[in-house]
Amino acid sequence: MDPSNGVQIPQRLVELLHSAPSIAVLTGAGISAESGVPTFRQKQIGQSQNGLWSRYDPEELATPQAFRRNPELVWRWYTWRRELISGVAPNAGHQALVEMEQHFPQFTLITQNVDGLHQQAGSRRVIELHGNIQRNKCFAENRVVGSWSETGEIPPRCPVCGGMLRPDVVWFGEPLPQDALESAWKAASTCQVFFSIGTSGIVEPAASLPYIALHTGAVVVEINPNPTPLTAQATYVLPGPAGSVLPVLLAALSRA
Ligand code: OAD
Repeated sequence: MDPSNGVQIPQRLVELLHSAPSIAVLTGAGISAESGVPTFRQKQIGQSQNGLWSRYDPEELATPQAFRRNPELVWRWYTWRRELISGVAPNAGHQALVEMEQHFPQFTLITQNVDGLHQQAGSRRVIELHGNIQRNKCFAENRVVGSWSETGEIPPRCPVCGGMLRPDVVWFGEPLPQDALESAWKAASTCQVFFSIGTSGIVEPAASLPYIALHTGAVVVEINPNPTPLTAQATYVLPGPAGSVLPVLLAALSRA
């Protein structure tokens, strides 16, 4: 059996990675797909994972307007997503990134995912651009809330001001956490190699990060089974699922 699953890693990329002190990685929903977390823009075959929620478009639920209009519906959707995420485990792609963090002197992992699977796998430093679904905050005051008394009300209420609680994730039309964005920008503009993994690359400002890296002279590597707007400009494209490609890349790095 071919241990590389047909994945070809260019030797020049391996050599470059050996001499590159600074690596930045941007991940999107695709890295968690093999764990069983549905991506945002790909329709699931048979939609079995989405069940009742398959008729809702995430882009219509993940907005402050949707929450104002129907807070119970949005809270219930996030409850479903939380339950789904709590039942899955990191996959070989997440695990390969944990080992890559140990391999390079400077390694910055930037994720658009809110599922916490990188941290669960063991990645130590993760920049969460879009927040984390396990945290909640007050919709009125934007303050993170750790606990509240259960009254059966949906969504539950902020113990301080009585306002509605919402997940601490970035919704469409909302700004990203400033410190996370600044750190991501810095990593993209100072790295020698930038990886774009499992993202459709169409949601700003995250979508700009590979182009910042390209403009400052970095080599950009895309890992995705499907083409994206970045594909034509990426220095290397490693087509395939992250859970297959990343372990082969890691093996090539360790061998050389
Ligand atoms: P998308 O759902 O837009 O894109 C997922 C990407 O993963 C696609 O390009 C797929 O081809 C790719 N993919 C699927 N399976 C894969 C696998 N096994 N390995 C590697 N790649 C795979 O998700 P994002 O790009 O993450 O924002 O979406 C960006 C943002 O839009 C999300 O963070 C979310 C969303 O709406 C907010 O919630 C603010």
